[in-house]
Amino acid sequence: MTLKEKIRTLAREKNAIVLAHYYTIGEVQDVADFVGDSLALAQKAAQTDAQIIVMCGVHFMAETCKILCPQAKVLIPDVSASCSLAESCPADAFAEFVAQHPQHKVISYVNTSAAVKAVTDVVVTSGNAREIVSSFPQDERLIFGPDRNLGEYINSVTGRQMLLWDGACHVHERFSVEKLIVLKREHPGAEVLVHPECRGAVRKLADVVGSTARLLKHTQESECREFLVVTESGILHQMQRACPEKTFIPVPPDDPGCTCNECQYMRLNTLEKLYQCLRDEAPEVTVPDEIAEKAVRPINRMLEISKELGL
Ligand code: 13P
Ligand code: SF4
Repeated sequence: MTLKEKIRTLAREKNAIVLAHYYTIGEVQDVADFVGDSLALAQKAAQTDAQIIVMCGVHFMAETCKILCPQAKVLIPDVSASCSLAESCPADAFAEFVAQHPQHKVISYVNTSAAVKAVTDVVVTSGNAREIVSSFPQDERLIFGPDRNLGEYINSVTGRQMLLWDGACHVHERFSVEKLIVLKREHPGAEVLVHPECRGAVRKLADVVGSTARLLKHTQESECREFLVVTESGILHQMQRACPEKTFIPVPPDDPGCTCNECQYMRLNTLEKLYQCLRDEAPEVTVPDEIAEKAVRPINRMLEISKELGL
């Protein structure tokens, strides 16, 4: 049996569902039951009746699964799959920031620890942030954390002046404006697809700014045949699979010699570790009850609003 077959057999025997984010390596995406962006993964976790959820993604995604599906055993192939953006927002410092602004409602990006979600009014993902922020009355005072780039972008498209936490993703911050300009010159017909975690100077060069799912959908709907992709390069797997006749060019980071931009945390999810994790039912991700009880409310609020808005 191949490793893929062993994984599928174990998943069936153990009533386990394997979820994978678009940034994981292609072979992990191919063996998963479901591949999606952060919003779709949370929606899937909220609906599943599987006894085991294996989250091939990063730690906050596994925590979100556990919070939404406390009866399931939640596993992650490598427990050190962290997220620099979530780490840029320590829960105690964020709680202090929130306490200093008692008149503000708190909106947190899903890329946060469960403890940050516990002091949040509503969670958002890049797939619904604009719509959820717009659902608040125009004069409501808002805090947005932790991604300053996504926060700036949402402020610019909604006309809000949300107070922003000063956090960022080390992968999306690394994209090079200069290299993107050169690539645009070399591929004048290509559309530029940018994730909103990128810096403003990069977003300015975009034809489309959106979540991984939105960028993927755009490549399928657009008549364009060439795309410059300014997000983690794992997404190219699904883009290329859905449209094999189109060309997808990963935009490199600033680092000399780098041809594409990878999140080293997402890349910790290997087929071998996925197999071992299903076999041993470890490492398991848990969330303390007192945090989960608080964190579930803003996550459910996000899911409810997304449902109402058809997202
Ligand atoms: P999406 O919500 O677009 O899937 O992005 C998640 C993420 O980690 C981006 O860096
Ligand atoms: Fe976190 Fe950035 Fe990796 Fe996404 S790409 S999981 S935001 S470190």
